[in-house]
Amino acid sequence: MNHHRNLSLARIALVLCLTCFAQAQSAAKPAPGSSAPQPPWMNSSLDPDTRADLMIHEMTLDEKIQLVHGDGWGVLRAGAFVNTRHNGGAGFVPGIPRLGLPDINLADSAYGVRMAALQSRYATALPSVLGMSASWDPDAAFLFGSVIGRELRAMGFNMSIGGGMDLIREPRNGRNFEYSSEDPILAGTMVGHLAMGVQSNHIMGDIKHYALNDQETGRNILDAKLDARAMRETDLLAFRIAITLAKPAGVMCAYNHINGDYACENDYTLNQVLKRDWGFKGFVLSDWGGTHSTVKAALAGLDQDQPGDDNFFSDPLKQAVLSGQVPQARLDDMVHRIVRSMFANDVIDHPPVRSVVDPFRGRDDAQKIEEESAVLLQNTGNILPLSAQTVRSIAIIGGHADVGVLSGGGSAQVDSPGGNAVNPVPGGSPWGKAIYFPSSPLRYIREQAPGAAIAYDPGTDNAAAAKAAASAQLAIVFVTQWMTEGQDSATLSLPDNQDALVSAVAAANPNTVVVLETGGPVTMPWAPNVKGILESWYPGIGGGQAIANLLFGRVNPSAKLPVTFAATEADLPHPQVTGLTPRTGNNADTVTRNQPRQRPQPFAVDYNVEGMAVGYRWFQEKSKQPLFPFGFGLSYTQFAYSNLKVDPGARSVTFDLRNTGSQSGDEIAEVYVTLPASTGEPFRKLAAFKRVPLAPGMSQSVQIPLDPLYLSTYSTATDSWSRPAGDFLIEVGGSSAALPLRQSLRLAAQ
Ligand code: BGC
Repeated sequence: MNHHRNLSLARIALVLCLTCFAQAQSAAKPAPGSSAPQPPWMNSSLDPDTRADLMIHEMTLDEKIQLVHGDGWGVLRAGAFVNTRHNGGAGFVPGIPRLGLPDINLADSAYGVRMAALQSRYATALPSVLGMSASWDPDAAFLFGSVIGRELRAMGFNMSIGGGMDLIREPRNGRNFEYSSEDPILAGTMVGHLAMGVQSNHIMGDIKHYALNDQETGRNILDAKLDARAMRETDLLAFRIAITLAKPAGVMCAYNHINGDYACENDYTLNQVLKRDWGFKGFVLSDWGGTHSTVKAALAGLDQDQPGDDNFFSDPLKQAVLSGQVPQARLDDMVHRIVRSMFANDVIDHPPVRSVVDPFRGRDDAQKIEEESAVLLQNTGNILPLSAQTVRSIAIIGGHADVGVLSGGGSAQVDSPGGNAVNPVPGGSPWGKAIYFPSSPLRYIREQAPGAAIAYDPGTDNAAAAKAAASAQLAIVFVTQWMTEGQDSATLSLPDNQDALVSAVAAANPNTVVVLETGGPVTMPWAPNVKGILESWYPGIGGGQAIANLLFGRVNPSAKLPVTFAATEADLPHPQVTGLTPRTGNNADTVTRNQPRQRPQPFAVDYNVEGMAVGYRWFQEKSKQPLFPFGFGLSYTQFAYSNLKVDPGARSVTFDLRNTGSQSGDEIAEVYVTLPASTGEPFRKLAAFKRVPLAPGMSQSVQIPLDPLYLSTYSTATDSWSRPAGDFLIEVGGSSAALPLRQSLRLAAQ
């Protein structure tokens, strides 16, 4: 405490003494090459907070106001004002040249940089975030983020607004491909590393949409209900882990309400949890159009209104400050958070340097990540890997596999090079259309098996597809599920009658393999009738090669599901997407924006139905069998677990892992904990994981630390976390549903 006070006093003293300097000298940034002294805040040996205070001290009220809102919809809306320094991204905040403060140019960048085509640029399309999370590999997440950061920097942006962190409570959510997992520890760890990768390039990172924007239907009008304990232990825990790891510059508050208040004017989630409890030092920016007030939002903790054309944080905020409704100190805090983040992330000392994005490096990185991310779900009779020596003929069917791979839509959409690979038209990749990237699985499968007869059938006519399948030794069916921001899927079924296509092919050829390109979990009524199933998610620009490498065993599959695949919607906590009615359509967002008179009534989404039992926990609690469980994924080799030891204080687990098969492979080892019954959490929860590479026949003693937080619960009575006393069960294995090692231990409260 004293330490903090001393630091603050030192900062105030420094500001006061340097004020004389700043008044005596011109505060303007000296021209390059000039011998004029640097303004004091350019002294990079000072900490970011001191540097920000020094600069802010020189700002006028108008300059401060200028920093706390964007300058409009810009390139996102036809006819909107576009500043000449605007870099063509989703957002722009003009800097203050006289003080040497650069503009903030923000770009959507969920799985790659958005809107590159607008400036004739190239951007790498990585696999979906959900796909990448199936790698359970924080290094892959870091690489993913670093590709985004590298390309943003080359294009002249200094802030990413990717970092989708919402928990997958609703498996039909249209944006699940931008998110990571139903488990808070996996999601927080992966997205945290993603944001670290972004920020490793002198780019400001962001985590969004804070919080509980867990479905798209009615996102602007819904009220997400969840009690404080469940929220802290699930959705907020995921954000906490990512924010603690990455210390992102920004946290974007969501469109929806949370327990009655809009997420962007929610004192509990912004002031109390994010800023007070987690010590977040960056700034809260609103989702685009997500600000709904001036005074309430400012006092609740919103720091920057985006895109700013609603004028909540422009003149109305200035007036509110002048009249004392919003204290000057609160405005200074908003500005401090923004400017300190710019110093902390080095966008002032190391501004972006424009260069040509390296598409080859990006493609290689995307392919590598996809090869760690595609999950082998079924491999009856070891139909996979295919052998180029023995395979004589293959029928490749459906999914536009002749030209490319599918991607996710909305503000995450990356522009496909050359235009959509299916029916290319000039321009970028339009909102509302399924966009394919030109990485043809057919082409790369042909490369792997040059001696085989490989024919393609588009899968548009089931009888023709069945005929093609019947005439080949093996059939590979590609099925797709296009998902996008702004709308959810009404069901978990594959769209466009593709289930019937797979069934027709499987009936015609017993050697059928299905490759899925989906935004999230889907049902597979045909699963018992096919031999192989590979979930490739949205596989990115290296997807065709990665899929071929996995099918032919050049790469051994290693990924595990970051989300449960239910057998039927009836097994979900919400069998229907709440609010998705014929009246709202599946896009209440568009309804509210464009047809205010038909505005549907606000509604609540009651997440207390499942509460803490999100995803696999729900399935365990309700004794329901999923189609494929969380944490599940096959390999071309096998692993054996033995010899579990939990240290008496439950600080770590140790066990032996052996590759008992004949191929090298990575095993993702998962550690689950079941808390004492007194906690009222009757399910196992992921507590730790580790990806372990092992050569055939080799074994390794694996030690994995256990974070005491993940053995703790949150008490609303004391507003704090603690580890309960009682009997804990620790289980270790390769899937949430197959845990060969278990040990109980009694622990004291902590
Ligand atoms: C999305 C955000 C996005 C913003 C700017 C909003 O519709 O929800 O994720 O960053 O638009 O494009």
